[in-house]
Amino acid sequence: MNNYKIIKSCKDIDFSQVWEILHFYGLSDLDIDTQENAFKSSYAVVFLMNGKKIIGVGRAVSDGITLAALCNIAVRDEYRGKGLGKVILDSLLEEVEGCNVILYTHPKHIGLYEHWGFSKLKTGYAIFNDEEHYRNERFIE
Ligand SMILES: CC(C)(COP(=O)(O)OP(=O)(O)OC[C@H]1O[C@@H](n2cnc3c(N)ncnc32)[C@H](O)[C@@H]1OP(=O)(O)O)[C@@H](O)C(=O)NCCC(=O)NCCS
Repeated sequence: MNNYKIIKSCKDIDFSQVWEILHFYGLSDLDIDTQENAFKSSYAVVFLMNGKKIIGVGRAVSDGITLAALCNIAVRDEYRGKGLGKVILDSLLEEVEGCNVILYTHPKHIGLYEHWGFSKLKTGYAIFNDEEHYRNERFIE
């Protein structure tokens, strides 16, 4: 698919659409304004646009020098499997070039990130606010 635009700024973004995409997959339980703040506070953001419709999103939390954590990478359901997830990933990686890049994903997507060149962490640790949820979903032991 190539009839989309890559936007790397939060200016003029309709965050109700971002909220809709992330909530569809259960990737966020924030309200729209808080979700907008999270994107605006991020080091890098990516929105894929098909006209006024947002069809994919992603962001990186980073110092821009040493470490970047990728999060909220999602493509609207009807646009999945067309290479757009990779476009979002590559756009974010471009913005954090030189950083070590980390992420955690849903257990069902583990193979995907290996497919995209990521190595599995052997010494990764996390403190989650809603630990029970992340344990039930098999993010943590
Ligand atoms: C994860 C997601 C962003 C990927 O986006 P996408 O546009 O469907 O992905 P792409 O089409 O760019 O790439 C898919 C590629 O990965 C491969 N792939 C998909 N799942 C895989 C898996 N579990 N193991 C190995 N490879 C996998 C596909 O075969 C395809 O390979 P190809 O490009 O060489 O043909 C999208 O599926 C999504 O929004 N998922 C729901 C939201 C979510 O859970 N996001 C969390 C991610 S942190």
